[in-house]
Amino acid sequence: MELPYSEPYKTKMVEPIRKSTRAEREQWIKEARYNVFNLKSHQVYIDLLTDSGTGAMSQEQWAALMTGDESYAGASSYYNLKEAIKDITGFEYFLPTHQGRAAENVLFSTILKEGDIVPGNAHFDTTKGHIEFRKATAVDCTIDEAYDTTLQHPFKGNVDLSKLEKVLKEHPAEKIPMIIVTITCNTSGGQPVSKENIKQVSAMAKKYNVRLIFDSARFAENAYFIKTRETGYEDKDIREIVREMFSYADGMTMSSKKDAIVNMGGFIGFRDEELFKKATVYNIMFEGFITYGGMSGRDMNALAQGLYDGTEFDYLESRIGQVARLGQQLAEFGIPVQQPFGGHAIFVDAKKFLPNVPKEEYIGQTLAVELYIEAGIRGAEIGTLMADRDPVTRENRYPQLELLRLAIPRRVYTDNHMKVVAVALKNIYDRRSSINKGLEIVSEAPIMRHFTVELKRKG
Ligand code: F0G
Repeated sequence: MELPYSEPYKTKMVEPIRKSTRAEREQWIKEARYNVFNLKSHQVYIDLLTDSGTGAMSQEQWAALMTGDESYAGASSYYNLKEAIKDITGFEYFLPTHQGRAAENVLFSTILKEGDIVPGNAHFDTTKGHIEFRKATAVDCTIDEAYDTTLQHPFKGNVDLSKLEKVLKEHPAEKIPMIIVTITCNTSGGQPVSKENIKQVSAMAKKYNVRLIFDSARFAENAYFIKTRETGYEDKDIREIVREMFSYADGMTMSSKKDAIVNMGGFIGFRDEELFKKATVYNIMFEGFITYGGMSGRDMNALAQGLYDGTEFDYLESRIGQVARLGQQLAEFGIPVQQPFGGHAIFVDAKKFLPNVPKEEYIGQTLAVELYIEAGIRGAEIGTLMADRDPVTRENRYPQLELLRLAIPRRVYTDNHMKVVAVALKNIYDRRSSINKGLEIVSEAPIMRHFTVELKRKG
């Protein structure tokens, strides 16, 4: 008999989590104004709100923390990180930032101005927020296949080259400071971008003289999918694929809280020294001096180690395998989920799950609230709330996909936890016909409203 699969690590420290009663949860979610971001962590049993900053560090990372150099300037931890970034990504120049959106803030302050156009594959909400805040426009050029959750396509994060070329033809190069390709593409379901597509986008960027930037939060998971799905990459090492991917980009923004498995941190990678120097001014203003920019020395050390931990094949196989096992269980229960399963999360198709809730009543959020009440599980809406209002018309934007994201923290939960999640969703699915009403907004912020929105049940 073939030995079953198991994780390539064992547990050294545990953090207790507690169950609660349905009555408690009903009270807590009401007090939280039906916004799961307002729940206190002790009110949550299994927390799948995000895979960002929620991973468990390895003993090597914890050891690296102890040798952090906290010098204001010239810290050895900065040089450790510089070396690791050069080794893993190939980028010669980098600036540390406190997280991914800070990297966006610094880079966009350097190159983006009012009226600019930024094409890409379904920009993440903070990326889009930073673009729209500067009165520029993000244009989604993702392939149409990404928006059909049942369609099998190995690289649903791919950029549609004809959509991209249309944008590049319609606007002069001075108006397009960059193309942003997000690897893997969070917004379209943690879906990867193929090496072939990266290569083609890069060729097009060169042809139109536009920079290509990778939003790299989940770059290692993208490399894993290239290795396991793209012809010619089966025998290549993850780090070899990573270097090859980055060789096509002019720069990168990174939220290190995902694939580099640290709790806080980010950076910008540059190929061009001039651009690096320009961005340095903003980094010093917004983040900190060049050699720490928003991070402590110990955190830079842990990040340097995390870049290696996160690009180990065995780890990636275990992590992406766990996500897929949850997806498989849900699919077996007949629950509509984005397929193929994404790298960091399972995305439940909320429109298909709750067909009786009108789109004006926030279907994804309604399902998030139901799941919390059912079993104390916290997921996140990726739908109308997150899509926000059109900056010009102020009308709600209804995205093609209304999703509930179950993001799995790295090296944190076991498959038993995933079984609880699957059964909780099944219980809701079994009574879906009785769920006819959703939520309405009581108050909202002018931008990135989903974090702080207050809602009530539709009466
Ligand atoms: N880009 C992508 C693709 C992301 O998923 C995120 C964050 C960011 C940029 C911003 O990075 O949080 O470090 O400032 N995503 C988190 C999530 C918040 O839950 O998906 P950050």
